[in-house]
Amino acid sequence: MKTFFVVLGASIAFFLTIAMFGTSGWERPPLTTTQNGFRGTGMDQVHTRAEVAEIRDANVAPAPADPAEEGGELAGQTYENVKVLSGLTTNEFNRLMVSMTEWVAPEQGCTYCHNTENMADDSLYQKRVARRMLQMTQHINSDWKANHVGGTGVTCYTCHRGQPVPANIWFTNPGPNHTSGFVSRNNGQNMAAPSVGLASLPYDSLTEYLADKSIDNNAIRVNATTALPTSKGKPIQDAEKTYGLMIHMSEGLGVNCTFCHNTRAISNWQQSTPQRTTAWHGIRMVRDINGNFMEPLTSTFPRNRLGVLGDVPKVNCTTCHNGQNKPLNGAHVVDAYPELTKVTVADVVKTPAPAPDTPPAETPPAVPAAPQP
Ligand code: HEC
Ligand code: HEC
Ligand code: HEC
Ligand code: HEC
Repeated sequence: MKTFFVVLGASIAFFLTIAMFGTSGWERPPLTTTQNGFRGTGMDQVHTRAEVAEIRDANVAPAPADPAEEGGELAGQTYENVKVLSGLTTNEFNRLMVSMTEWVAPEQGCTYCHNTENMADDSLYQKRVARRMLQMTQHINSDWKANHVGGTGVTCYTCHRGQPVPANIWFTNPGPNHTSGFVSRNNGQNMAAPSVGLASLPYDSLTEYLADKSIDNNAIRVNATTALPTSKGKPIQDAEKTYGLMIHMSEGLGVNCTFCHNTRAISNWQQSTPQRTTAWHGIRMVRDINGNFMEPLTSTFPRNRLGVLGDVPKVNCTTCHNGQNKPLNGAHVVDAYPELTKVTVADVVKTPAPAPDTPPAETPPAVPAAPQP
C-alpha cells in the first residue's frame, strides 16, 4: 500500500511539474528584483528579465525634432487663427505642428486636423480638440510638475503613441444589460472586468474615483485607524471599490502593491514609499484632467466617439504610464519642447487651481529615499 502511494505521489508531482512549464502563469527565469522599501519588509518588485526588456523596448520616446531656426515673425502675426501658440515664432510653430503630426496622426498627416484648403478653418472637431489638448499638456507640465510629472513631463506622444485615439482610454461602464433576474443588483460585482484585473471586484471604480473632481478627499480611504470601532466606519463595498482602483493603479504602472505600501500597515503614510505620495497627487491630477479638460469637450466630440452613456473618453493612470512606473522609461520628453511646459494663454480658458498639496489627513510621508539593494 505504501509503495502504491509513493508511486502515485511521485507521478502526480511529475505531471504537475510538466504542466507548470506549459501554463501561462509560469514565469521563466532569470528573474530580476528591485528593492523599493526597507530591507526585510518584502517591498520588492519581481519581474522576469525578458518582461523588463520587452516593456522597456515598447516604451521608447521618439527622438525630438531638430531645433527650429531662430528669429522670424511670431506665429500670431503670420497666421490668422492661432489662439494658444501665438507667442511662438513661425519656425517654432511649424516645428511643433510637424511633431504633433508625428505624435498623434502620423498616418493621416496634417489633414487629420486641418482642412487643407484653409489651415485657419476650425471646422474639424479634431483641430478644436487638439487646441484644448495643447492647453491641457501645458497645464500638466506646469501646474503638476512639482507634484507629479517632474522633469519627465508629457508630450502628446506620452498618451497618443502615434495614434489619434490613445490605446488606454475608458468610459463609464453601464454594467450588464439586465435589470431583473436571479441577481438583479450585484453591486457591480462578479463581472471579471479587465479594469480590475479580472478579479471579483466592482467593475467600475474609475467613474467615482477618477472622474468626479468634487469627490471627498478621503473617499478612497477605508481602513479603520483605531483597534476598536469608534464609529460606524465604511461599508465593505467601499473597501472593494478601493481595491478595484488599487489594482488598476498597480497594473497601469506595472508594479506590485508594495511599490507604494508596506502591506503590514497599508494606510500608514509613515511606512509608505515616497511614490505613494506621487500617486496620491496623480489621482488628483487625473480628476483634474478628466473634469476640467476632457468633460468640457463632450459636445465637441462627435457622438460616435462618446461612450454608451454619452460620456466623453477619459484618462486613467495607464493612459500615460502604459505599464511603467515612469512613462516612456522616464525620458525627459519635454526638454526639447519648452512651449509645452508653460501655460501660454491663461485667459482663453480658466485653468483650474491645482489640487491642494496637503496629502491625507495625517502628516505626509517623511520616508527617506528607499535603500538600494
Ligand atoms: C493633431 C492636430 C493637428 C495636426 C495633425 C496638425 N495641426 Fe496645424 N493646427 C492645429 C491646431 C490646434 C492649430 C491652432 C493652434 C492655436 O490655436 O494655437 C493649428 C494651426 C495651424 C496653422 C495656423 C493656421 C492659421 O492661419 O491660423 C498652420 C499653418 C498649421 N497648423 C499647419 C500645420 C501643418 C503644416 C501640419 C502638418 C505637418 C499640421 N498643422 C498638423 C492642430 C493640428
Ligand atoms: C494625458 C493624455 C493626453 C495627452 C498628453 C494628449 N492627449 Fe489628445 N487625447 C487624449 C484622450 C484621452 C483623447 C480622447 C480619445 C478619443 O478621441 O476617443 C484624446 C483625443 C485627441 C484628439 C481627437 C482624436 C479623435 O479623433 O477622436 C486629438 C486630435 C488629440 N487628442 C490631440 C492631442 C495633441 C495635439 C496633444 C499634444 C498637444 C494631445 N492630444 C495630448 C489624451 C491625451
Ligand atoms: C502607485 C502607488 C500605489 C499602489 C501600487 C497601490 N496603492 Fe493603495 N493607495 C495608494 C494611495 C495614494 C492611497 C490613498 C488614496 C487617497 O487617499 O486618495 C492608497 C490607499 C489604499 C487603501 C486604503 C487605505 C486607507 O487608509 O484606508 C488600501 C486598502 C490600499 N491602498 C490597498 C492597495 C492594494 C491591495 C494594492 C495592490 C493591489 C495597492 N493598494 C497598490 C497608492 C498605491
Ligand atoms: C498625464 C500623464 C500621467 C498620468 C495620467 C499619470 N501619471 Fe504618474 N507619472 C507621470 C510622469 C511623467 C511621471 C514621472 C515623474 C518623474 O520623472 O519624476 C509619473 C510618475 C509617477 C509615479 C512615481 C514613479 C517613480 O518611480 O518614482 C507614481 C507612483 C505615479 N506616477 C502614479 C500614478 C498614478 C497612480 C496615476 C493614476 C491615478 C498616474 N500616475 C497618472 C505621468 C502621469
